[in-house]
Amino acid sequence: MTDLFSKFDPLIQQRETLLASGVEDPFNLVMEKVLSPTRAICNGRETILLGTYNYMGMTFDPDVIQAGKDALDNFGSGTTGSRVLNGTYQGHREVEDALKEFYAMDHAMVFSTGYQANLGIISTIAGKDDYIVLDIDSHASIWDGCSLGNAQIVPFKHNDIEAMEKRLRRIPEGAGKLVVLEGVYSMMGDIAPLKDMIAVAKANGAMVLVDEAHSMGFIGPNGRGVAEDQGVLDQVDFVIGTFSKSVGTVGGFCVSNHPKFEIMRLVCRPYVFTASLPPSVVATAATSIRKLMHGSNKRAHLWENSRTLHAGLKALGFQLGTDVPQSAIIAVIMPDLERGAGMWEALLREGLYVNLARPPATPANMTLLRCSLCAEHSSEQVQTILAMFERAGKATGII
Ligand SMILES: Cc1ncc(COP(=O)(O)O)c(C=O)c1O
Repeated sequence: MTDLFSKFDPLIQQRETLLASGVEDPFNLVMEKVLSPTRAICNGRETILLGTYNYMGMTFDPDVIQAGKDALDNFGSGTTGSRVLNGTYQGHREVEDALKEFYAMDHAMVFSTGYQANLGIISTIAGKDDYIVLDIDSHASIWDGCSLGNAQIVPFKHNDIEAMEKRLRRIPEGAGKLVVLEGVYSMMGDIAPLKDMIAVAKANGAMVLVDEAHSMGFIGPNGRGVAEDQGVLDQVDFVIGTFSKSVGTVGGFCVSNHPKFEIMRLVCRPYVFTASLPPSVVATAATSIRKLMHGSNKRAHLWENSRTLHAGLKALGFQLGTDVPQSAIIAVIMPDLERGAGMWEALLREGLYVNLARPPATPANMTLLRCSLCAEHSSEQVQTILAMFERAGKATGII
């Protein structure tokens, strides 16, 4: 018998070597209690959270919590069914209405996760004879959507408009073309030059899908994302998003103005063949999305946090993923996995949690300490975070 697990041996070995160095397992941390969007108890001690996707801090919003409790009382704990059978409750309609209003778009379709939204929409609209032109640094759910639909996959260098154009020009005349982009790339926290990229895509007859998972709620005058910020939202055919970041719960969605969009509900397998979100989840999502429509003060404070942290880390001598802050994510580049894990642990001992990201999730085989800020981080907390980085950086020799 061939052991089908043998392909994982190099990874098992790498993990064992890392843990043998005595470092705490960075991929197995338990949040023993969550006190607020920015504080939790980890290993028995109070810890500042700087590695969540809770950008707008909605997880403890009293209206959001109350909506979830009411839905549990009135609709039960789960739907036990697909959206196309018994799994569409009033709350699913309400959250889709909230999304249509949030984006000012005609159609909204809610999936059980953002992963499934990409998987479902991409695989359903781009089939065997169609071409998908996508950024090489695209999220795994985008790649998986391309594979599931069996489309011809044409990647181009990250954020490289010329490379994208070249690929588009080579596609045979008359073939279906979909360009897939992200607003914010979550590993480095950089944004896409969507305005120029979308212009090129349209000039070459492609439809455009933009994943705004990490920008919704925060970037753009109304928090609709990078496409809104760059004034091209009306050129985007499909916006993909998630409830697991700024919205503060779980779920995914696609919004679109395409006149035939509703047919997706019957043909999109990751929508049809899975149970719908629980009533409490859609109720919290709808309440959160409606509150995010009035989130301009929070957005302004989050930008301030991002600028302060970026400038402070740069001044301390850390190498960062972007020259200027472009989103709520600030990536601190580590020399290698071992030293990255050491720095991660030193920060945890200080009482700070960040994400340790490593290949294959990261571009160019980098190890990153990914900091994601929250609108609920106070200015004092950001200063505390900087002091923690300074002590941990000096103790581990990173700075
Ligand atoms: C760009 C992007 N798209 C989609 C997803 C998937 O979202 P979800 O957590 O809702 O499955 C993520 C999650 O990390 C993401 O970063």
